[in-house]
Amino acid sequence: MSSLTRGGADGRGPLHGFGVVGCGVIGARHAQVAKTLPNAHFVAATDIAAERAKQLATDYGGEAEPDLDSLLAREDVDVVAVCTPNGAHSEVGVRAARAGKHLVVEKPIDITLAAADRLIDAAQVAGVKMTVISQHRFDAGLVELHRMLDAGQLGRLVMGDSRVKWYRTDAYFGAAPWRGSWALGGGGALISQGIHYADLLLWCMGPVAEVMATCATAAHDIEVEDVEVAVLRFASGAIGSLESATAVFPGFRERLEVSGTGGTVVVEDGRIVVRELLAEHGEVGPYGSRVTEAGGAGASGASGASSGAADPAAITNDAHAAQVADLLAAIDEDREPAVTGADGRSVLELVLAVYESARRNAPVTLPLRS
Ligand SMILES: NC(=O)c1ccc[n+]([C@@H]2O[C@H](COP(=O)([O-])OP(=O)(O)OC[C@H]3O[C@@H](n4cnc5c(N)ncnc54)[C@H](O)[C@@H]3O)[C@@H](O)[C@H]2O)c1
Repeated sequence: MSSLTRGGADGRGPLHGFGVVGCGVIGARHAQVAKTLPNAHFVAATDIAAERAKQLATDYGGEAEPDLDSLLAREDVDVVAVCTPNGAHSEVGVRAARAGKHLVVEKPIDITLAAADRLIDAAQVAGVKMTVISQHRFDAGLVELHRMLDAGQLGRLVMGDSRVKWYRTDAYFGAAPWRGSWALGGGGALISQGIHYADLLLWCMGPVAEVMATCATAAHDIEVEDVEVAVLRFASGAIGSLESATAVFPGFRERLEVSGTGGTVVVEDGRIVVRELLAEHGEVGPYGSRVTEAGGAGASGASGASSGAADPAAITNDAHAAQVADLLAAIDEDREPAVTGADGRSVLELVLAVYESARRNAPVTLPLRS
């Protein structure tokens, strides 16, 4: 395991040195996060495009390494942020784990279950900690919804729906052609955008038992889907839906709706916009009651400023920083992080089931065979 400088900025825990692999849109975010956290610092970056690593190092005060081996050889790097395209996460992560580095892996964990399993195994064998980014689990509205579910306030779950209907231009796909490809992207709007709230849906509703899905490429010259709709049956017996798009102008706030026999909570862009509990209502008539939207009882969390609906660069760092801080605490306390490799694998499995169902035009049951 790599050596650590003792004493973070608070003088207590170790100071963790970060290496960033893949210096595009999200690589810069990880360098920023490492600079922001009191017990982390940004050390070095590498990219197969050398000028990108140099630029990131210049922008955030680290060093550019010519290749992955030289970054992994650095004793002052003990955490590696894997920020390469979707289908190049496991390959980089496995090498980093074998070099004794802890891992922050961007979503999705990779694009096949076999690749996900290789990465999870490598981290386990090496005894390093790994988290797969699902930063919205740390949004205030999600934290509160999950607390309410744990407390049983929503009763027995009956429906759960996730909607990430965003907009991306042709220039977004043109700037990084892997984003529109099966080979390195592993899919389109679902695996790259909808996956954020698909993970939240699983986190809140539990595992999915069956999916029936339709995907289409409606508005872009790409080989993967830019619109996707799936009907879900959860293992609990609840039902729901999962919608993703990069073709819906101008891009709507991402939305999660969870309903149980005890009421409904709706989260939009990380904040609770509907919180209706049967137990908190007076007498309810045969036709139910009116919903209090936006800013009603229980509304909490970040403002809409963090949404990536029309611009991924508009997503704020706060939730990423919270997830990375949790990984560092997991390292220091020798515990599992809040979001594990297994969590990353579960949402990938749901994504792959949706694609298989759309391809076969037939229902697909989970778990999938890997
Ligand atoms: N959590 C979020 O909100 C969020 C937002 C955007 C992107 N992402 C994820 O981050 C990852 C990167 O996305 P992006 O938009 O930053 O992509 P990007 O194309 O902007 O950057 C990827 C970089 O990786 C480099 N690269 C490719 N293969 C490499 C390899 N084998 N070794 C080293 N460098 C390599 C490329 O040259 C490029 O600079 C994707 O998996 C994406 O899904 C997450």
